[in-house]
Amino acid sequence: MKHDSFQIPQPSKIRVASITPFWRINEFLAIIKNFFIKNGTKLQQEISKELKDIHNIPFEYCYFFDSGRSAIYFSLISLGLKKGDKVIIPSFTCRALLFALFEAGVEPIFGDIDEDYNLDLKSLVFECDLKDVKAIIIPNMFGKMNCEYELLKKLKTKGIIVIEDNATSFGTSYDSEILSDALIYSFNLGKMINGSGGGLVYMRHNVSLDEFNEFKSQKRSKVVLRFLRELVSLRFRKQTSVIISFFRRRINMQKSLDDYYSFKDKVSNETQKYFKCKKISFLSLILICSQIKDYERIRLSYNKLFNKYNSKLGLKSKFKKNEVPNYFLIEINKKIDRYELGSYLSNYGIETYWSYYPIHRIKIYEDILRINKLDTTNKKWSNFLYLPFNLFISEENIDFVCEKYKEYIESYEESK
Ligand SMILES: Cc1ncc(COP(=O)(O)O)c(C=O)c1O
Repeated sequence: MKHDSFQIPQPSKIRVASITPFWRINEFLAIIKNFFIKNGTKLQQEISKELKDIHNIPFEYCYFFDSGRSAIYFSLISLGLKKGDKVIIPSFTCRALLFALFEAGVEPIFGDIDEDYNLDLKSLVFECDLKDVKAIIIPNMFGKMNCEYELLKKLKTKGIIVIEDNATSFGTSYDSEILSDALIYSFNLGKMINGSGGGLVYMRHNVSLDEFNEFKSQKRSKVVLRFLRELVSLRFRKQTSVIISFFRRRINMQKSLDDYYSFKDKVSNETQKYFKCKKISFLSLILICSQIKDYERIRLSYNKLFNKYNSKLGLKSKFKKNEVPNYFLIEINKKIDRYELGSYLSNYGIETYWSYYPIHRIKIYEDILRINKLDTTNKKWSNFLYLPFNLFISEENIDFVCEKYKEYIESYEESK
């Protein structure tokens, strides 16, 4: 059995949780206060302005949705992409991107990543035939920008539409002219700012929302249920982990992730409906707005945690001044099985995980075209683990995680 094809077992009693939405007393008070004021448009304007300032975005138009994938779908349609148009995305990314492409009826093509887990733009510009390519979606991964000005300029002169996906790069600001056509943010679970779902897109030009006739509000009961579920299973993850792990159905260890995702996505594949593009909920707007008002403190706390990890593990930061680390990835020796490492940490109540199983490895997607060989994707997808990185983590927690991590690595080296 190849362990790395499976999910890392999670601690039954969590001591250091990996992802928790950043909802403190401020967010709960904001919900109570805004419940009576209830002005969604005003909240959208506030968020849009704050985010423009934080990220140094000059675009004038901002549209809010229920998710990042809806924002991507919207930008594809509003930028004029038509059925069958070819759009490049990395294979090492969230399947939500693929769903947005399918929903818009365009044809995905996979591109390889570089050593920073970002789409390899150099290879695209200098080694690939982009003649039929209409658009490229560039996810800026884990806080690192992937927008080398000269490379983007070359793509733009070929008439290619560029959409930047900043779902995992909240806070990383632009330090030169933006050449892209749309900039996406997501406020879903695991993102630096959590809105119990939500997404937005900045565009250069105004788009009429009337064209999006399926663009409806979410059901209030669904919004509340989701929020309550996230409160129990995420915000209070540490406190509820024993109960949750008792009820949680263990994932079938006999199944590979390939089978798992093929099975999961089969229904949407058959119905050709991947999701509905909906409006952001008022509740999400309140949560996002409240956190953004406190963003400077959030950024400083993340930086502190990041530096602490690096100093404890003897690592050097690869981030530039304008970039904000949104995750803490530990790259592990190829010979170390991350499943074993994750299990070891899990025994001490430390929750770790990894994400972005390369989409081209999933059976139902293996026929999707590839613009290059995906060598780096195949090499790098399995050599990292996310260590706990959120605002509920203390410096003592990091000491503990690093101690247990080093303990495992040392025992591995001794056993060689
Ligand atoms: C890189 C990336 N882009 C886009 C998305 C889609 O965001 P959402 O889940 O809000 O649809 C995700 C989701 O996690 C993601 O990781």
